[in-house]
Amino acid sequence: MPVQLKRLLILGVVLFSVFLLFKYLLTPASFGQYGHYRGLALEENAALTAKYTGSEACYDCHDSIVAVKNESLHSSIACESCHGPGFKHIEDPENEKMDQPDSREFCAHCHAFNKARPEKAITQQDIREHNPDEKCIECHNPHQPQQ
Ligand code: HEC
Ligand code: HEC
Ligand code: HEC
Ligand code: HEC
Repeated sequence: MPVQLKRLLILGVVLFSVFLLFKYLLTPASFGQYGHYRGLALEENAALTAKYTGSEACYDCHDSIVAVKNESLHSSIACESCHGPGFKHIEDPENEKMDQPDSREFCAHCHAFNKARPEKAITQQDIREHNPDEKCIECHNPHQPQQ
């Protein structure tokens, strides 16, 4: 065997051993327990606490608001996109309060003029001109905004 090939071969064997060593040291213990992933990842994800519940969960106790909202122009907006995560509240409504975002800025997130947004998607208002001295909810019911 020519000497150049021999050296290459030795180098190859050394690199491969280093690779095997690193693979041995760095692969997490639970890897391959169930498949080609870390077995512990399942347990870790299952242990995360839920924050959001979905609007259906609000129906049990606030059915009249759910009914009104679902018939309104805000029907596509989930309760929790305005009130924040509801998981704790549904377990203990007396002590775990929901947000009640009543500021003009809050409504402006979606309704202020924004050139980047198609005008047909959401009705835009110039909120500096549109009744600037009052809160939006003095005139618009957030659960039934067209009234
Ligand atoms: C567009 C934002 C928005 C959405 C969507 C929304 N809310 Fe509200 N909600 C508000 C605001 C703002 C207030 C505070 C109203 C006030 O102070 O007069 C409020 C008040 C409330 C209140 C307390 C006052 C009351 O009327 O009894 C409850 C309960 C409530 N919302 C439940 C819900 C439920 C359930 C849903 C989903 C069906 C929902 N909300 C969807 C913005 C929203
Ligand atoms: C198990 C019944 C129950 C469920 C489910 C429930 N609520 Fe409530 N909610 C209540 C009660 C009771 C109050 C009044 C609490 C008080 O006045 O101390 C309340 C009050 C509220 C208020 C007024 C602010 C506050 O926290 O007191 C909002 C907003 C609200 N709920 C939104 C929601 C949303 C959104 C959902 C769905 C994610 C939801 N609720 C699910 C029972 C419930
Ligand atoms: C998450 C985005 C979002 C938020 C926050 C939001 N809206 Fe809306 N709003 C919509 C969408 C979507 C519609 C239905 C499309 C439309 O008509 O603009 C709508 C419709 C409306 C309409 C009826 C417009 C029409 O064409 O007749 C009014 C009024 C309104 N919203 C007021 C409010 C007020 C007041 C608040 C704050 C309490 C608010 N909205 C918060 C998205 C939002
Ligand atoms: C003093 C009462 C009042 C206040 C406060 C108010 N509005 Fe209005 N809004 C109206 C009336 C009345 C209309 C319908 C006539 C018009 O288009 O001006 C309207 C129309 C709208 C429309 C368009 C609906 C359509 O049919 O074209 C949107 C969106 C809207 N308002 C959002 C808001 C937002 C967001 C705020 C807070 C930043 C707000 N309004 C504050 C009374 C009010």
